Amino acid sequence: MTDYASAIRQRFGDGGPSAEGVADNEFIRRVLVRKTVRRYSATAPDESLLDLLVAAALSASAKSDFQQASILRVTDPAKRSAIGALFPAMPWIGGAPAFFVFLGDARRLQRIGELRAKPVRNGTLEGFFNASIDAALALQTMILCAESAGLGVCPISVIRNEIDKVAAILALPDLVFPVAGLCIGYPQGEGHISLRLPRRATTHRDRYDDGALPQAIDDYDRRRDARHAIPKEQHRSNAEFGEAAFYGWSEDKARQAAKAEGAAFPPWLRAHGFTFD
Ligand SMILES: Cc1cc2nc3c(=O)[nH]c(=O)nc-3n(C[C@H](O)[C@H](O)[C@H](O)COP(=O)(O)O)c2cc1C
Repeated sequence: MTDYASAIRQRFGDGGPSAEGVADNEFIRRVLVRKTVRRYSATAPDESLLDLLVAAALSASAKSDFQQASILRVTDPAKRSAIGALFPAMPWIGGAPAFFVFLGDARRLQRIGELRAKPVRNGTLEGFFNASIDAALALQTMILCAESAGLGVCPISVIRNEIDKVAAILALPDLVFPVAGLCIGYPQGEGHISLRLPRRATTHRDRYDDGALPQAIDDYDRRRDARHAIPKEQHRSNAEFGEAAFYGWSEDKARQAAKAEGAAFPPWLRAHGFTFD
């Protein structure tokens, strides 16, 4: 078995294509077995390495070359602990050796319009969407580069659930919003590779067809449960939905998604420059 085949089996276990005969590429192999890391050793990454990762992140593609991502590093211990204290269930937010916030920045382009005396209105859906994508691409570029340098990371979108407080701590102006934070440090412990949905459920050819979804999800639930069953104490909303005879990934995600998250974010955006028209 090639290294790719082994990595793809760990990631999907779906019997799909296994890159037979493709030349070895270390970066791709690493991506296939990457994993989010939430526990870090006390060793802080070098500042120069973090600077390099920021440069790599800002090298990501950018819609229309508008360059609407900004990266905010939080170093002030008071700000780190103020943000961490908002999310006691996720102690890695306050405790990670380094913490960045990836911002969608629709403000800069609007300011450039003002500087060049052009009628730029960037609080539109297009402005929000483009800035979000730029920030997400910068985030993912940082993630993959950090991981390839031996670091472990965890993106943090839960900061949007306390958007008022986080925005005040970071002094975010109108038209600038967090897409996600990013914890960075050297991994402590092994963690595990998270099994992804079978590719027959997430890939299509020539036309969209999700006719086989129910069976693919059942199959995935069973395989994922065999690798990493969700412990009973982590079953959600039993009071509302009752105890499931079989509590797999899809039961967990359906229960999670049924409880709307991030209700504070849309009104905050509307109050901070976005009209979404
Ligand atoms: C945009 C985004 C936001 C995330 N936010 C959080 C978060 O707030 N807290 C957390 O612990 N993990 C967060 N994660 C990590 C996901 O839970 C993780 O990527 C997912 O469970 C898949 O695991 P893997 O990355 O190890 O494959 C986030 C991931 C992404 C892409």
